[in-house]
Amino acid sequence: MCYAIPGNVKNITGNLITVDYFGEERKARNDFYDLQVGDYVYAQGGFVVEKIDEKLAEEILETWKELFFELKKTDVRLSKLYNDKPDLDKDFLKVIDKATYGKLISRKEALRLLLCEDPDEIDLLHKSANFIRQKFLDNACCVHGIIEFSNTCVCKCTYCGINSENSTLKRYSLDTGEILEVVADAVKRFGFKGLVLQSGEDTSYSSDKILKLIKDIRRNFPVFIFLSLGEREDRFYREAFDAGAKAALFRFETSDSTLYSQLHPHSSLKERTRYLKLFKDIGYIIASGSLIGLPGQKAESVIDDFMFAKELGCDMYSFGPFIPHPDTPLSDYNTPDTEYILKALSVLRLIDPYGKILVTTALESINPQARRQALMSGANSIMLNLTPKDYVGFYDIYPNRATVDVSVEKQIADALQLLKSIGRAPTDLGI
Ligand code: 5AD
Repeated sequence: MCYAIPGNVKNITGNLITVDYFGEERKARNDFYDLQVGDYVYAQGGFVVEKIDEKLAEEILETWKELFFELKKTDVRLSKLYNDKPDLDKDFLKVIDKATYGKLISRKEALRLLLCEDPDEIDLLHKSANFIRQKFLDNACCVHGIIEFSNTCVCKCTYCGINSENSTLKRYSLDTGEILEVVADAVKRFGFKGLVLQSGEDTSYSSDKILKLIKDIRRNFPVFIFLSLGEREDRFYREAFDAGAKAALFRFETSDSTLYSQLHPHSSLKERTRYLKLFKDIGYIIASGSLIGLPGQKAESVIDDFMFAKELGCDMYSFGPFIPHPDTPLSDYNTPDTEYILKALSVLRLIDPYGKILVTTALESINPQARRQALMSGANSIMLNLTPKDYVGFYDIYPNRATVDVSVEKQIADALQLLKSIGRAPTDLGI
């Protein structure tokens, strides 16, 4: 998945290459291959992940050619911006106007958008976000696979079902052989080009073991590796990057330091942020975000989270709803409404026209329509769950997770059908 389209290398400057896709040029970083102008490659997240044989590339491009342009046409048609309600509040329209021209909007203006209640305003907010996504990022939609390889965790996050205090949960850890089998299936059988390795903060999984796993994956499979492992030694993250993991998914959870400390008795926002800066320094693509709808969190705080994530230089945003878990201290609180999360994602798109925005599984879990709605409201990235079925139910961060009982084949078929219907290409052409 993320059926990367083969790109043709047009220019090479050090480890930065220019890749052509049917006349569109993108940049990618090449850390792994000896390349010449004219070679064909697959790129993911702005990194070359595979060099491919010319004949094979040409065959694949032939099958893509018509579809590539057809999908774009559908997307352009569905993302047209028009406002047939000229009586909308002038201040609201001013902010929308500014954002659609790619201009920065202020915290106050973003808050005005997030707090809008008028159905016509909400509708225009979503349409504007979709328009901006199309205008600045076109119709590519990343489709990554996630492997949750251990639910063992030393953290005490009060919202999270796998926190160390939850003694009712059965714990599991896949060994590296089992993980490699899942990776082999994902890459060879299903065609995934980007994979997230996720776990709780499992100290029994040594950093050396994970480094070896990353090397084994890169040696055997042309795939872009995201790490989502929480706080580990700085040294580990430096070595993991060199070993071939090029992205880190690491949420800051909330940018309100008081709220952060209440929710995470074991850690601080300062330390959390230090990691994100470290990842950026090392060169990782970073995906981060927070929980929306946390107890005690105001709309102002959500906007602060968006601004904070943008300032950190996130390449991809992962913002999703807080869902109360029955075996946590926050069990009695409410799940936020889908509509609020969708509004928030649209506001985020107006704040950053360029970042990738993920439709989180948490959002899909509170409303089965939400994946499509989010993709039509500014989002452009999804994740499919590849955790083996004997374990996936135990990765119980929140209850009733979407896709827990859906086979990988069906997840892929559903995703492709949806993307096709809205003119999105399951590709990641890079930057
Ligand atoms: N609801 C929604 N998301 C949650 N996470 C953990 N617990 C919950 C919950 N109850 C998210 C955290 C973490 C990610 C792996 O899962 O934001 O970063």
